[in-house]
Amino acid sequence: MRLKGKVAIITGGANGIGKAATKRFLEEGAKVVVADIQKEAGEQLAKQFRDQGHEVMFYPVNVASKDEVETMVEKVKEIFGKIDILINNAGITRDAMLVKMTEEQFNDVIDVNLKGVFHCAQAVAKVMIEQGNGKIINTSSVSGIYGNIGQTNYAAAKAAIVGMTKTWAKELGKKGINVNAVAPGFTKTTMVEKMPEKILNYMESITSLKRLGEPDDIANAYLFLASDESNYITGHVLHVDGGIMM
Ligand code: NAI
Repeated sequence: MRLKGKVAIITGGANGIGKAATKRFLEEGAKVVVADIQKEAGEQLAKQFRDQGHEVMFYPVNVASKDEVETMVEKVKEIFGKIDILINNAGITRDAMLVKMTEEQFNDVIDVNLKGVFHCAQAVAKVMIEQGNGKIINTSSVSGIYGNIGQTNYAAAKAAIVGMTKTWAKELGKKGINVNAVAPGFTKTTMVEKMPEKILNYMESITSLKRLGEPDDIANAYLFLASDESNYITGHVLHVDGGIMM
């Protein structure tokens, strides 16, 4: 019960890594708001966990919309009275080589993976400042740290996450708020299923642990950074990538 009584918003919580995090956080006693653009998957997941006796709600939201995010945060505050943890996990890919990438592909990824994180952190930070405590965990990527072919837009957004994480850690530390990031390696979710098998085999071969990540590998890192065990850690980017590059 490492998160007993804590209220957590997990964006992109309906699938993949976010879904694994929702499960882990509920197992550890948190009350979870699954904040996701996919209504059917989100509602189904929340129902499944509610039926098992957990306290979980689904909130449909597009994190790229500042208004939608602000309304969600107000509602969560109203319902639960506080927000202890924000997991900024929602993300998309629109891959193309630099010379072929359209402006739409570039903007779509920036709107969700960069501005979406800003919208959620800004709205939730206001609540956490009032409370005098909180934990914000952002999701970067190996692509943002080392670059990745075909991911100009994605790498730009994920590198920006590192800068924002460190900036917010500096701004919010004195308010009792820890801000950290997790940088996952290639992890088995629908996001990665879109990638050619040849590339995935290559990624596996250059990973020290010789396997791709499981959603639980990343969820466990979120859990550590959301729990009291990481109270003296802020501004850190935790690489959870099986040692793909060092
Ligand atoms: P996924 O595609 O399985 O899940 C992403 C979730 O985000 C989905 O439930 C989706 O509906 C939601 N989402 C997408 N756009 C949204 C929006 N505008 N508003 C609200 N929710 C939205 O992806 P996965 O793999 O679980 O990714 C989770 C995070 O981990 C992302 O930030 C991703 O960039 C990051 N990541 C994933 C890696 C991987 O290999 N799977 C590697 C490095 C980082």
